[in-house]
Amino acid sequence: MSDHYPFENLPLPYAYDALEPYIDEQTMHLHHDKHLQNYVDTLNGLLKDSPYLQTMSLVQLICTTSRLRPQIGIPIARNAGGVYNHRFYFNNLSPTSSAGPSPDLLVAIQCAFGNFTAFQEKFSHAAKSVFGSGYAWLVCGPQKELSILTTANQETPLTLGRYPLLTIDVWEHAYYLKHYNKRADYIKDWWNIVNWDWVNAQYMLCMKPNCGKIFWGDY
Ligand SMILES: [Fe+2]
Repeated sequence: MSDHYPFENLPLPYAYDALEPYIDEQTMHLHHDKHLQNYVDTLNGLLKDSPYLQTMSLVQLICTTSRLRPQIGIPIARNAGGVYNHRFYFNNLSPTSSAGPSPDLLVAIQCAFGNFTAFQEKFSHAAKSVFGSGYAWLVCGPQKELSILTTANQETPLTLGRYPLLTIDVWEHAYYLKHYNKRADYIKDWWNIVNWDWVNAQYMLCMKPNCGKIFWGDY
């Protein structure tokens, strides 16, 4: 994985039409090849004259930008966030529906939300409630507790001290060609293509004692 400068737009882990009929092929082309590519290219342009920043991973950049001058820190945060969020989003989708949450994750979901259906309803409501552009997330906190949060634009849960497990991109470019302005329909379709194997793997990382180091690295 290109985890430092120059960043690459990694290929999708499935074919562009693989998420049909829930997400259409044209949307996947535009989303990956145009929107994500633009974040990658802009981020590389912002870093081209900063050798110190070029050694940092994507996560390190995201968690460092608040300590930089706003003129450079804000655009780097927006574009590094755009790359991170989109990579996470594409990876947490799959054309082959997996079995669902692992037994351990299911227990954690039940503890946090009552049951799986209540979790889905709360997550969907959060995704619908995002004003404008952003994401809804299932995250794991410092005490290993699960919660749902939303982020605006390309902000990430990482800067809030939360480890992401699952996300839905609710920018209109993620669904408008197929679902028009009906975000609720997109969210309903999206549940059919969640890559629970990916989500379960993220949860296992969170449960490790050194999970902060795994997510954020040494810096
Ligand atoms: Fe997007």
